[in-house]
Amino acid sequence: LTAPDVVVVGGGAIGLAIAWKSAARGLSVTVVDESPGQGASWIAAGLLAPITELHHGEEELFRLNLASAELYPGFVAELEEVSGMPAGYLATGMLAAARDRDENEALEDLFRLQERLGLEPQRLTGSEARRLEPALAPGVAGGILVEGDHQIDNRALLPALLEACKRTGVDFVAQRARAIECDAESVHGVILQDGTRIPTGSIVVAAGCWSNHLEGLPDEAQPPVRPVKGQLIHLRGPADHPLLRRNLRGLDVYVVPRPDGRLVIGATVEEMGFDLSVTAQAIFSLLRDAYEILPGVLELEITETIAGLRPGSPDNAPMLGESVLKGLVIATGHYRNGILLTPVTAAAIAELLTTGKSPALIEPFTPLRFVRSTEAVS
Ligand code: GLY
Repeated sequence: LTAPDVVVVGGGAIGLAIAWKSAARGLSVTVVDESPGQGASWIAAGLLAPITELHHGEEELFRLNLASAELYPGFVAELEEVSGMPAGYLATGMLAAARDRDENEALEDLFRLQERLGLEPQRLTGSEARRLEPALAPGVAGGILVEGDHQIDNRALLPALLEACKRTGVDFVAQRARAIECDAESVHGVILQDGTRIPTGSIVVAAGCWSNHLEGLPDEAQPPVRPVKGQLIHLRGPADHPLLRRNLRGLDVYVVPRPDGRLVIGATVEEMGFDLSVTAQAIFSLLRDAYEILPGVLELEITETIAGLRPGSPDNAPMLGESVLKGLVIATGHYRNGILLTPVTAAAIAELLTTGKSPALIEPFTPLRFVRSTEAVS
């Protein structure tokens, strides 16, 4: 085997986009994944909603999220040109709706945080919200309209990324990576499940919540990821009379309408380890919460129920950049923002791989932040 410049372990949205962007910058790249284009990236709902999903205490992550949202239109235009396939990007805008007065208080809090960060969301009364989305429940007590929060159909994005990789010369190995070969200073290769060795001086670990399952690495080089389960429901409605035009969220649920009448309702956030079961409790709560803001969902056909595993990090922000070993680059821990953070992650990691320098934007997200804190307590 000839040694590629880079081996990317993991062929989800993050791994594929890094592989494509790195190959486009002249590197020879091999992606190792048993079934690329699947995993959490396939199961995601594809919300691109940094402003609606803003949380207190996560302003730094918000800046990264927003930067990636801003990259999306250009990223998609290039992806569609290179792959010759639609990537499923849709500028819908998003409405946050409160089902009652208490929830409207919570929305007010979000609205103030958004304004404090210099954003310009629109605060709506219940009837103003219903004027925009007539299918909203009569009890909806208020809303926030964010014109700049959009969506992408991740099930279109992934095939387009796969095709773009192939057309840019990325090699694929349809196996699981078992181990990383390294000494105390640097990495030397990837060992596959069947024992084959791919020699390389540069490895990107983008294996989602499985990113700390590679043998051979010292403990401090393992990114501290854990699976955070999310369950979703897919519904099908009439394409000619869409129930909803914008993305919609309540306090504990979101509804993402596709242009062909499909709707995705998501998602639970559960600490259950590597469990992919779909539970009656989750389906019940998702449907109840969606029904309370959008009663018409009960008339639609359920086409799929599914669970996926987000890669969570200890502070819910991604781990991006060089690890303790030379040549070991981490790109995981994207948690609830993997699809959103795909363009900025790909650009930043491709930049790091080609120039040896981490762009300033990802510096706060160095994987070393967790290594340092471990040293401080020991
Ligand atoms: N970004 C939505 C979710 O992870 O459920």
